[in-house]
Amino acid sequence: MEIIDGDKERKMKSTRNFNFLIFKTYSNNLQKFRGFNIKYSNLLSKDRSYINSSIYVGRHSKLEVLFKLNPEKLKIAVLGGTGNIGEGMVLRLALQNLMTEGVKNEIIIGSRSRESADEAAKAALSELENCGFDTSSITITGNTNLEAARAAEIIILTIRFDHVLPLLDEIGEAIEDKIIVTPVVPMVKEGDLFVYKPPAEGSAALAIQKKVPASTKVVAAFHNISAGKLKDIVKCKAVHHALVCSDDAEAKKLIVELTRHMGCLTPLDGGPLRQANTMESLTPLLINLAKLNGLKDLGINFS
Ligand SMILES: NC(=O)c1ccc[n+]([C@@H]2O[C@H](COP(=O)([O-])OP(=O)(O)OC[C@H]3O[C@@H](n4cnc5c(N)ncnc54)[C@H](OP(=O)(O)O)[C@@H]3O)[C@@H](O)[C@H]2O)c1
Repeated sequence: MEIIDGDKERKMKSTRNFNFLIFKTYSNNLQKFRGFNIKYSNLLSKDRSYINSSIYVGRHSKLEVLFKLNPEKLKIAVLGGTGNIGEGMVLRLALQNLMTEGVKNEIIIGSRSRESADEAAKAALSELENCGFDTSSITITGNTNLEAARAAEIIILTIRFDHVLPLLDEIGEAIEDKIIVTPVVPMVKEGDLFVYKPPAEGSAALAIQKKVPASTKVVAAFHNISAGKLKDIVKCKAVHHALVCSDDAEAKKLIVELTRHMGCLTPLDGGPLRQANTMESLTPLLINLAKLNGLKDLGINFS
């Protein structure tokens, strides 16, 4: 724990050792931040590249800050990033590097085939350029799922449920101490419609949690967001709610902040991981509603 004053805080922000990513103020008054005494709590474990720390400003205001200890970008692997939702996820994460706010990142697309991953990385960069974005500050590379997971701090599983558990067996050693994000929805087609078919654990998220090392933090998110919506980076029509569940508060906050700056999503804390089955089960409903009513890329909004 450390007490620093406003002047010192400004000095810290200007050094390259601390790359502040996100400030969120409950008092909605960031200006008050400067000049107050600040108390950092929960300062850092050395083996982690980011922390979530609470900062108390004066007596009443509370700021939360997520920051990195080093100037490197947060490395995010999108396994199965060659696929439908993976493609949209990669584009949305890449765009965060062009925004003043948002978690700056480097994206590694994972695939069973290194060549497919490379091609998907090139295609994503071309798509961004074709849409008129400057890609000079964007890094997207491709690799095998295992190497992508090894290189990353956050690993997003954009893979169908049938293939996820075998893949986790293959990459087990690469995901220790890391954050795994699951948008995975176990569902089957019955006739023309989809039906939610959770595993015995109750949800894909809980089955994944059972499979990964104890040190891996599982976050369930993005189940109710259509790939089409994520890929529509130019028009970006409606803004939908994205529910985020986890038993790890820090990991959940980080994914909430990633989601907040995707351009078309408003994150909502969905509670602990055992709530993920509710989120997962909404996806076949959305797909069926779209089909039955001639609609496209349906999402959810709570009001
Ligand atoms: N599509 C959506 O709108 C949407 C929305 C919400 C949630 N989700 C969830 O996101 C996940 C991915 O959905 P998707 O529609 O993007 O799937 P997808 O396009 O059918 O497949 C994604 C990737 O999975 C990889 N894959 C295929 N077979 C595999 C295997 N046997 N082992 C390992 N990897 C394999 C492939 O990558 P490589 O061939 O390059 O290895 C493929 O590109 C699913 O769990 C789904 O429930 C999807």
